Amino acid sequence: MKPYRIAVFASGRGSNFQALVDAQQSGALGGEISMLVCDKPQAPVVELAHEANVDVFAFQPKDYASKEDYEREIAAELQQRGVELIVLAGYMRLLSSSFVEFYSGRIINIHPSLLPAFPGKDAIGQALAYGVKMTGVTVHFVDGGMDTGPVIAQRAIEIQEDDNAETVAARIHQVEQKLYYEVVSWFAQGRVALNGRNVTIKN
Ligand code: GRF
Repeated sequence: MKPYRIAVFASGRGSNFQALVDAQQSGALGGEISMLVCDKPQAPVVELAHEANVDVFAFQPKDYASKEDYEREIAAELQQRGVELIVLAGYMRLLSSSFVEFYSGRIINIHPSLLPAFPGKDAIGQALAYGVKMTGVTVHFVDGGMDTGPVIAQRAIEIQEDDNAETVAARIHQVEQKLYYEVVSWFAQGRVALNGRNVTIKN
């Protein structure tokens, strides 16, 4: 049987990408990472992909006249590989509404807060500045807004008095790296159902 095909979009460090690669290697992902899409050719995640023998489509947005132009190339690469799920893992660029619509229900993102609290940039800094006692991680469908799509899974962590941005980020990353491959495996098993804003995971 053809493996369930995944594309990861990332811009930076790639700790979530690496956790997905590790899960693929251990069999826990239940699918195959067919490609990495990266808008920063020098990002560490590109090197991680090469080490894992994952195809890379890296591009510089400034080399294109418009977002539509590079997204058309991305879509062609995805189609060529029969990609079924797009997994955003620290992809620091908004996708166009036509791209999001075309892949509706097939793009997910991981965000370091309990959405709808603290969307957008520096979610951990926002949570600390607000003084919340709990924050966490959300995996959600991507829609046309900024971190507004239906929630698929969430995990909470407590914020202690002696915490700072680094210590919270470290715990958040640990949680992310366990949660994201699990959610992807639910997709690979065909267990995720979306009804309006409500997501259910079938047994
Ligand atoms: C993660 O914290 C994720 O929640 C956010 O971007 C970060 C990516 O980190 N969307 P990494 O590149 O996977 O290490």
